Amino acid sequence: MLETGRLLLRPWRVTEAVVLHELWTERDPRVPPHRRIDADGHPTVADLEDWIRTNQPSSIGLLAVERKADRDVIGYCGLIDSGRGSDGEPELAFELLRRVWRQGYATEASLAVLEWARSSGYEHLRATVWEWNAASRRVLAKVGFTAERKELDAVYGNNLFTRRLL
Ligand SMILES: CC(C)(COP(=O)(O)OP(=O)(O)OC[C@H]1O[C@@H](n2cnc3c(N)ncnc32)[C@H](O)[C@@H]1OP(=O)(O)O)[C@@H](O)C(=O)NCCC(=O)NCCS
Repeated sequence: MLETGRLLLRPWRVTEAVVLHELWTERDPRVPPHRRIDADGHPTVADLEDWIRTNQPSSIGLLAVERKADRDVIGYCGLIDSGRGSDGEPELAFELLRRVWRQGYATEASLAVLEWARSSGYEHLRATVWEWNAASRRVLAKVGFTAERKELDAVYGNNLFTRRLL
């Protein structure tokens, strides 16, 4: 469990799959199809309950972000193994419900996750972001990530690969 001034970051509870489902339904149409609800309605809430059961965080993982004052879960922030880092460096990832955007929560949660990564012994973190995703790019810049390279993609938009020394 990680704690900041306003937030707790902790494992997802199965009953909170509805929040994950809401995040999936809210995704920007520019996000590639495999990260959006498909024509058959998958992932369903039940699919996401299974995901929570089988993806409990260890030294990495996506943590539920809970507001201490409201006691509601507003999204996730954490570390993922994207398979992109040749040296075992995880990636920072975050996503919050639209109704709480622009209140500094992603920045606050990310700083706690950076501390978690540092205390787990990682020396660098990566993050990948679509060039069109101005809010996410701003959060990454605020917590110290800098772009190292850009991968051009005519279909979904260019991808920026960023990294930060811990
Ligand atoms: C990215 C995301 C997590 C940011 O959450 P948040 O809690 O609103 O972030 P913060 O409030 O900590 O910071 C957002 C910053 O981006 C800025 N911002 C927000 N929307 C913006 C836009 N459209 N253009 C430019 N800047 C923008 C805000 O002004 C703020 O910067 P500031 O503090 O300098 O004013 C949220 O937008 C989200 O969930 N997006 C969808 C999922 C996603 O993109 N995840 C990341 C994938 S790489």
